[in-house]
Amino acid sequence: MIRWLTYLAVLSVSVAGIVVLAAHGTMRAAETPPENSATAASPAALLDFPEGTATPSDQCGACHQTIYKEYSEGAGSDLHWAEMKLLSLKDKALAFPKGSSLSPTAHSVAGTDPFPLEAMQVEENGKRCNVCHYPQPIEYPDMAATKIEKAKPRAANQEVGITCASCHLTPDGKIRGPYAVEAPHATVKDERTTTSIACAVCHSEGERVIGKQTQTFLEWREDFRKPGLGPQQCQDCHMPKTVRKLAEDFDVPERVVGRHLWTGGHSFQRTASALTLSINQTEVGMPQLVFHVTNVGAGHSVPTGSNRRAVYLMAEIVNGKGKVVATKEWMFAPWMLGRPDDKAFLDEDKKGHDPIATSQADAQGPHETIIRAGEQRVFDWTPEIAKGGYTVRARLIYDLNRYNDRAFKDDQNELTKTTLEIAITKQLASAR
Ligand code: HEC
Ligand code: HEC
Ligand code: HEC
Ligand code: HEC
Ligand code: HEC
Repeated sequence: MIRWLTYLAVLSVSVAGIVVLAAHGTMRAAETPPENSATAASPAALLDFPEGTATPSDQCGACHQTIYKEYSEGAGSDLHWAEMKLLSLKDKALAFPKGSSLSPTAHSVAGTDPFPLEAMQVEENGKRCNVCHYPQPIEYPDMAATKIEKAKPRAANQEVGITCASCHLTPDGKIRGPYAVEAPHATVKDERTTTSIACAVCHSEGERVIGKQTQTFLEWREDFRKPGLGPQQCQDCHMPKTVRKLAEDFDVPERVVGRHLWTGGHSFQRTASALTLSINQTEVGMPQLVFHVTNVGAGHSVPTGSNRRAVYLMAEIVNGKGKVVATKEWMFAPWMLGRPDDKAFLDEDKKGHDPIATSQADAQGPHETIIRAGEQRVFDWTPEIAKGGYTVRARLIYDLNRYNDRAFKDDQNELTKTTLEIAITKQLASAR
């Protein structure tokens, strides 16, 4: 009770808290004491969140200040956002409004980042996208569920994006977290908050289809967790831990906190840690090359998630004069649908769901599938080159949007590169 009185005292002096409470009028007396909550015995007023997952995150940020700075500004991350082009170089550049942070987390900008907004507008006004991009409070599925069911979409206030409440509010209006705490809102201790199941509903859809997009949780469960490649949950890689207070102005102990940063495709460090690349000449004197691309860093396929992502393996052979004499390129990317992207379906695509996105994917034709957790992919190349000395150069490039002009580089970054000196002393049977 003494601790609870302290909260109320803090509440009445916390300027930010008061502004938030006054502005949204969310303070009310708890008519029925919430179950399973450390505050159940307390007669004190509890905050509730009538706007549900559309509750703006700065309301929570008034008390959870550092977490809010991580979420909204990427404080402590290497996140960086650049302009995006949808298709052609001539398209207008999609950028955040001037003055915005350029290192916010993707969750916090899910309602303002112009790339998904434009993409949603062209497809049925986003109707089918909102189940993940703006869901109502989610229930955690069963860890072993064969099918990940969709959440219900939220109709209102999409501009607030994926909010604190999107992940923390339960369907019955409590705030879930890993601890048993006393808080000025109803809380429920749920240890599953620190496991991959907390991410499943938005980071997977339907049943496992190897190679398809929106499969990250299922890729983790089937390819990483099940065979025992590692003990890590999503949070262990994407929410690295530290020790500090959860709510700075309150008389509470320091606790272990997962940093709310979620670095992914917009982080050089994250993407660069996923894959390694090596080149070998399989037979001395012959132009027979192999490239090994190995998923050593991701707990799922690479690139995972949206079908827009791609990784290119680009190889070239340079002669003694510095001239490029042969080039070769492979693209690996998630399929749009549950089958390989294929030009043969272009007419059918026009009649189906998401006609623009499906035809974009199929127009690129067949390509390499994504590299699964722990997988080493081997690419062979036997270039037709004359006898002599050469340098083989190879690079891996990550692309946030494989559908726009490849000459647009602001959405690409080099993951790694390597070279090999080779001497060709024998001719291939096919070469003259
Ligand atoms: C309520 C739905 C939801 C939940 C739950 C959720 N995410 Fe996300 N996540 C999204 C959406 C939507 C995006 C893309 C937002 C955008 O770019 O507009 C995203 C983006 C990301 C990205 C960044 C990708 C990039 O482009 O940089 C990472 C990493 C990520 N989520 C990890 C996680 C992890 C780990 C968890 C579990 C702890 C999690 N997410 C839980 C919906 C969710
Ligand atoms: C008026 C201040 C205040 C506001 C506003 C507030 N919280 Fe809290 N919250 C607290 C305090 C205090 C604790 C307990 C901290 C502790 O004991 O370490 C807490 C605890 C939590 C926990 C940990 C729960 C657990 O069981 O582990 C989560 C998660 C959380 N809050 C999320 C939120 C979210 C999401 C919002 C907005 C929808 C929010 N909070 C709004 C003060 C606040
Ligand atoms: C994408 C989902 C997601 C969003 C958005 C999100 N959180 Fe969390 N939060 C989590 C997960 C998962 C954990 C558990 C992390 C771990 O493994 O320790 C967590 C933990 C917490 C905790 C307890 C400390 C800890 O790390 O265990 C607090 C407090 C909290 N979040 C507050 C917030 C606030 C405030 C916001 C908005 C500024 C927010 N969260 C946004 C997923 C989210
Ligand atoms: C062992 C560490 C590790 C684990 C465990 C892990 N990830 Fe990742 N994650 C990575 C790496 C490395 C990348 C960068 C490569 C890529 O994009 O596939 C990444 C990228 C991502 C992205 C960015 C995709 C994009 O398009 O920008 C998302 C989203 C994501 N992970 C979600 C998750 C979720 C959800 C889980 C749990 C089901 C998870 N990750 C488990 C290491 C990990
Ligand atoms: C199954 C959940 C889910 C559905 C359904 C979904 N998305 Fe996403 N989307 C995500 C997640 C999670 C990410 C984060 C990156 C990743 O995983 O690759 C994302 C990322 C994106 C991005 C890239 C954002 C960036 O800034 O790089 C775009 C664009 C996008 N989605 C558009 C759409 C559109 C358009 C639709 C509907 C036709 C849609 N999404 C449906 C979950 C979903």
